[in-house]
Amino acid sequence: MKIKEIKEVTLQPFTKWTGGKRQLLPVIRELIPKTYNRYFEPFVGGGALFFDLAPKDAVINDFNAELINCYQQIKDNPQELIEILKVHQEYNSKEYYLDLRSADRDERIDMMSEVQRAARILYMLRVDFNGLYRVNSKNQFNVPYGRYKNPKIVDENLVSAISTYLNNNQIEIKKGDFEKAVLDVQPGDFVYFDPPYIPLSETSAFTSYTHEGFSYDDQVRLRDTFKKLSDTGAYVMLSNSSSFLVEELYRDFNIHYVEATRTNGAKSSSRGKISEIIVTNYEK
Ligand SMILES: C[S@@+](CC[C@H](N)C(=O)[O-])C[C@H]1O[C@@H](n2cnc3c(N)ncnc32)[C@H](O)[C@@H]1O
Repeated sequence: MKIKEIKEVTLQPFTKWTGGKRQLLPVIRELIPKTYNRYFEPFVGGGALFFDLAPKDAVINDFNAELINCYQQIKDNPQELIEILKVHQEYNSKEYYLDLRSADRDERIDMMSEVQRAARILYMLRVDFNGLYRVNSKNQFNVPYGRYKNPKIVDENLVSAISTYLNNNQIEIKKGDFEKAVLDVQPGDFVYFDPPYIPLSETSAFTSYTHEGFSYDDQVRLRDTFKKLSDTGAYVMLSNSSSFLVEELYRDFNIHYVEATRTNGAKSSSRGKISEIIVTNYEK
């Protein structure tokens, strides 16, 4: 009998995601607590740190329902998801993309199953401009088709490996606001917050408007949550832009300045070295 060869797959994000933390992983790894109980990531996005740590017991959460459905479908329906992605791979073209994209402009999206919806989003993020997720005020996806020569639309081994990992460990997948996602945090747990950043350029005006759906009041609410969790005896870490407002908000905690190279900014002018802040409530 021939033994099936099982390829070792390193867990990593299954999609590009704005603000992805892969470049910062080496510095973040240095700053995480040596031991902790449960892992919480309330703004999980693509989950760069989550997959890097691959905790056995964790709660992951995001506000974006389509993204959270992708995690859920990879867990529950990996084979069906892979099969649909193979179809998208076969038919991929600008016209095909635009047609599938417009499913949220008529009733087609409501007829789709959850696994079809996940495949739609995962396909679009592989072929669209810069791998961006962006919707208009009516929640309609509006990113143009990208210019990739040979995009890898389905990574079968990765989807299977993530599915196995999610099923063989205690991973709770939640959808909603960050505050609700940390209600069960106990002393000794580790919480990593990676919120939408305070914009660097318009810092002075930011206190009166919303950036990526996250206002200054949300940043203050997040700081208060950080403090509350710290007082209960959890290890808390947060990343944000290297700005005066962040320094102000977290002045009672440890602030680490880190440098990273950005590769997937929307504008090429914003690429290059960036400096960010990592806040912890514990000494390293
Ligand atoms: C900077 S990204 C996280 C990037 C992630 N660490 C990664 O490696 O891909 C911020 C995330 O916060 C989510 N978000 C925005 N507002 C939120 C809220 N009020 N509660 C929870 N998540 C929210 C966004 O959908 C987005 O995925």
